[in-house]
Amino acid sequence: MALSCKAFICEQVEAIREAVGDGCAISALSGGVDSAVATVLGHKALGKKMEAIFIDDGLMRQDEPSEVRDAFAKMGIAVQVLNRKRRFFDALAGKTDPEEKRRAFRDTFYRVFAEAVLKSRAQFLIQGTIKADIIETRKGVKTQHNILEQIGIDPQSGYGYQVIEPLKTLFKPGVREVGKAAGLPAAFHQRMPFPGPGLATRCMGEATPKRIAIVRKACKIVEEETKGLKAFQCFAVLLADRPTGVTKTGRRRDGDALAVRCVDSENAISAEPTRLSWQRLMKIRDRILAEIPTATKVLYDLTPKPPSTIEYI
Ligand code: XMP
Repeated sequence: MALSCKAFICEQVEAIREAVGDGCAISALSGGVDSAVATVLGHKALGKKMEAIFIDDGLMRQDEPSEVRDAFAKMGIAVQVLNRKRRFFDALAGKTDPEEKRRAFRDTFYRVFAEAVLKSRAQFLIQGTIKADIIETRKGVKTQHNILEQIGIDPQSGYGYQVIEPLKTLFKPGVREVGKAAGLPAAFHQRMPFPGPGLATRCMGEATPKRIAIVRKACKIVEEETKGLKAFQCFAVLLADRPTGVTKTGRRRDGDALAVRCVDSENAISAEPTRLSWQRLMKIRDRILAEIPTATKVLYDLTPKPPSTIEYI
């Protein structure tokens, strides 16, 4: 990071204040590192002129909405949680193509925020876009949920507000440093990245409430069993196929295939699979099979990025 963290924070706080002027803003908080840091900067700049909104899209990690609300309340930042699960699941219904799912998520995300912005009469939306999001979208790797202007969508005419992105020049390590310097608890600034479209990126095929519940449970198991490791990201993915399995009484049945994905990476642009011990892998396998009775396969993903990406869509 070229500027020191303190100088960066001062510069961005000033820039947010200047951009918003006499107006007011909404911060799109998702519980991930980036939006948490962007929200703290927005709060420093605007105080009560900024409202932090957490949209519960139904695609979050377990207990995420309440944990985020409580953690931010401790920092003096009130978070409004809006339950919009239905809207997101309706938008995702029947969609299996990765980019179609991403577009459906993005459109719903901005529409839902447009409604919140309109209601609050805010003119600005603060969001935690970082440099890697822009690079990946520009390269055409995948449509990151929070990229608009960079791909030619004008949020002002499309959704009725301007977007402020204080972190767009930083990669993840820089965001973490800024978060720490800005007083964010370690539980947040050291948190593993979690993509905006949430568990929909970890569910191949249709993202239904039932399938999302399965992958949520599997992700929690993987997160718990890899706690303390220095991996960049650890999670599980529900595959679309239904591999054949066999019951204890010898009857054939089909079931869910779950892939476990742990990667080491500096900035998410490239990644290597984490060398988990066999013992740890077996523990993860045992828990997935015990806690997700529909599972008939548990796999460990060995692919680096490239040619793979970190998430599955
Ligand atoms: P991929 O899967 O492209 O992911 O290798 C690189 C990093 O970006 C995260 N990711 C996203 N983050 N919105 C985000 O805020 C998104 O749409 C999105 N898609 C992927 C991913 O978790 C990884 O850390």
